This record gives sequence, C-alpha cells and structure tokens, in this order.
Amino acid sequence: MKIAIIGAGNMGGSIAQGLSNGKLISTSDITVSDSDTAKLKLLKDANPDLQVTSNNIDAVETADIIIIAVKPWLVHSVLKDIDLSRKQILVSIAAGINFEQLAHDVIEPEMPMFRVIPNTAISELESFNAISSRNVTKEQESLILSIFNEMGTSILLPEDKLPAATALASCGIAFVFKYIQAAMQAGVEMGIRPDEAMNMVAQSVKGAAQLILNNHTHPSIEIDKVTTPGGITIKGINELDHAGFTSAVIKAMKACN
Ligand SMILES: NC(=O)c1ccc[n+]([C@@H]2O[C@H](COP(=O)([O-])OP(=O)(O)OC[C@H]3O[C@@H](n4cnc5c(N)ncnc54)[C@H](OP(=O)(O)O)[C@@H]3O)[C@@H](O)[C@H]2O)c1
Repeated sequence: MKIAIIGAGNMGGSIAQGLSNGKLISTSDITVSDSDTAKLKLLKDANPDLQVTSNNIDAVETADIIIIAVKPWLVHSVLKDIDLSRKQILVSIAAGINFEQLAHDVIEPEMPMFRVIPNTAISELESFNAISSRNVTKEQESLILSIFNEMGTSILLPEDKLPAATALASCGIAFVFKYIQAAMQAGVEMGIRPDEAMNMVAQSVKGAAQLILNNHTHPSIEIDKVTTPGGITIKGINELDHAGFTSAVIKAMKACN
C-alpha cells in the first residue's frame, strides 16, 4: 500500500511522521511532496526511509492513496496538476473544501474520496479525526479508518456534520489551550511559577479527558465527585457560570461552524 502526501506542513508533516511510526504502512511506501525542500529535509532526517520529492506528479504516480494536505485555497491548483485514476483513493484534509469541489477538480469525479478533519494533536498521535466518504467501498472505509486511527481516534460522519465536528475538535483544541492559558494566569497571580502552573493545568486537562474517555462517564458525574456541598469547588464553578462560561463556549463553538 503506497501513500503520497502532498504538503509537508503542520498537518501533512505530522501525518507523515505518524504513519512512519505506525505499523500499517511501511515508511519506504510513503512519499511526501512539498514545494519547501527545507520541510522535506527535516522529515527525511527524522525518517530516512521516507521518500520525498518536490514534484507532485511523481509523488502520486504509483500511490494507492493520495492525501492532500495543502491550504484550502491551493487544493484546486494542486488537483488540477495531477492525474488521479479511479483505482486511487483521494483523501483531502482541507477544511471547508467539499466533495463537490474536489470532484470538480479531478479527472475522474466518481473516484473514491474521503474528507478527513484532524486536529493538531495528530503530531502526538492523539488527534480526533472526523471522516466523510464518497463513492467508497466498505473495505476502503475500514482502510482509511485504520490508517487515521493510528494517529488518534476517528469516526465516520455524513459530510454535512463535518463543519460541526471541525468546530468541536479542530477549532475546539484552541479553546482548550485558551483555558490552559487563562488558568495559568490565575496560578501566577496566586504565586505559582508559569512553567509549574502550565504543567499543573495541562496535566489536569489530560486527566479530565482520560477520566471521560477511559470510563465512558459524563462531565456532570465527574463534577459531582469534586464538588463537596458547601465546598470551594462549587463556588468556583458557580463563578464560571455567573461569568457566562457555558454560554461563551457554546457561542465560540457555533462561531466556528
Ligand atoms: N492546522 C489545523 O488545525 C488543521 C486542522 C484540520 C485541517 N487542516 C487542514 O490541513 C491543511 C494543511 O494545513 P497546515 O496547517 O498543515 O498548512 P501548512 O503548514 O501551510 O502546510 C501546507 C504545506 O504545503 C506546501 N505547499 C504549498 N503549495 C504546495 C504545492 N503546490 N505542492 C506541494 N506542497 C505545497 C506548503 O509550502 P509553503 O509553506 O512553502 O507554501 C506547506 O509546507 C489545510 O487545508 C487545513 O484546512 C488544518
């Protein structure tokens, strides 16, 4: 199984790294193409078996799966320059470029296609990947799910749900950073060093996520465990809601939709 990744930036580079570290695809079967040779060199230095090129046409020629990881406004010109066949699988991670647009830009509009929306935690193999498909077989769906599950957790969704998933997981990761940053500021004001405050908060966020994901529990149940009646935590939680925390998060997510 050969994979070509076009674009070796934040996302494409992380996917190349993630696939190289994974077990499904042999590193020598991964080709990364980018116009920026410095990025290719960095990837090649870290993964000597990786194939790199600055020629997109060469990259896709023998690939079974082509992952398009350039900025959304470049997808059109990248696809126009390469000839993909129905035997190949197109995977686009470009936010906001729908299947109709992708089909318009390829020679074979009915070719198998996936849209995948990961988030930046893909570099840590902890991404949430929302995946939609078009004209694919069950086997192709399982294959793409397995590939992206190596870099986090993936689910299949209808295309019309991708914008909401993008808001929750792809934009939403920035809101988590914003929470970490705000909590750090509080910690520093209370006399904790910034680096220590950052570790305290980041580990708490990681722990909260693991409690939910590992135990299939619910935030309300976990909050009840922390909030002793008349205690300090419920005072803080109520302050958050007096300040409009829940409403602010809902509005922020909907603004990204
Ligand atoms: N970042 C996120 O959180 C996130 C989440 C979900 C989806 N996405 C999607 O992921 C895609 C990539 O985002 P990114 O943040 O990884 O962008 P990026 O860091 O800019 O990476 C894109 C790479 O593609 C290269 N490139 C530009 N034109 C090219 C061409 N014609 N052929 C080959 N390579 C070319 C760029 O080189 P130059 O820098 O020299 O132009 C750059 O190295 C976007 O479509 C975005 O919507 C991003």
